Amino acid sequence: MKKPELTLQTTTLWDYPSQHYGDRMQGDQNYPGATPSYIIWNLLKRYTRERDLVVDPMCGSGTTIDVCKDLSRRVIGFDLSPYREDIIPADVRNLPLRSESVDFIFIDPPYGKNIHYSDDPRCIGTLSANEEGYYRAMELCIREIYRVLKTQRYMALYCCDSFQKKKPFAPIGFRLFSIMEQWFIPVDIIAVVRHNRTLKRRHYHTEAERGNYFLRGFNYLFIMKKETKHKK
Ligand SMILES: C[S@@+](CC[C@H](N)C(=O)[O-])C[C@H]1O[C@@H](n2cnc3c(N)ncnc32)[C@H](O)[C@@H]1O
Repeated sequence: MKKPELTLQTTTLWDYPSQHYGDRMQGDQNYPGATPSYIIWNLLKRYTRERDLVVDPMCGSGTTIDVCKDLSRRVIGFDLSPYREDIIPADVRNLPLRSESVDFIFIDPPYGKNIHYSDDPRCIGTLSANEEGYYRAMELCIREIYRVLKTQRYMALYCCDSFQKKKPFAPIGFRLFSIMEQWFIPVDIIAVVRHNRTLKRRHYHTEAERGNYFLRGFNYLFIMKKETKHKK
């Protein structure tokens, strides 16, 4: 795949047809649900400076760690089920960090039960986005992000809505945004074009037409600011 140049995005529609930029990979494109690294690159360029401390509390294959190294940011990556040695085991709801100690947080959480990440019962990927338990778990996660982030600094959450046949549509993006709004000031909402394998398969499109539903064509990227030390 020919990769375009990595540039700073200037509109609210972001598109980059590869999980990683340059000649090397950031994180692992084969990790299920790996974040496209240009998203993290763009966020760090805008909302952080060199030597700032960046945290990804659901670090997966380590994409955030690798982008931070490329841009000379300090970084700590946590995950319930560490994929690499430089990822620290922790539950996102209880991070081993001091309050108000982090300059920027990026998080790409599970969006319901579509991917199996681990057998750990604390894995948020075992919770259906059609049930309240998922949103309660994500609320605790957002509160913990609020606790560890410094005042006047930013966080970004990347997520997608969920539609499964014979189940109600789950507007995960709007639900998570309204939880975050209780704590943070909204800065912007970006739509990121999805380039996953499902979208390349013709029969998925035929099925979507026949079943009168839509395939997920974009992810939300919510950018939020912690304005005050106390909840809004
Ligand atoms: C969408 S993936 C993150 C992908 C990652 N950004 C990357 O580029 O590889 C979501 C991650 O959340 C982790 N996770 C699920 N529940 C968790 C919890 N309670 N605490 C910490 N991590 C959790 C999963 O193990 C999985 O690695």
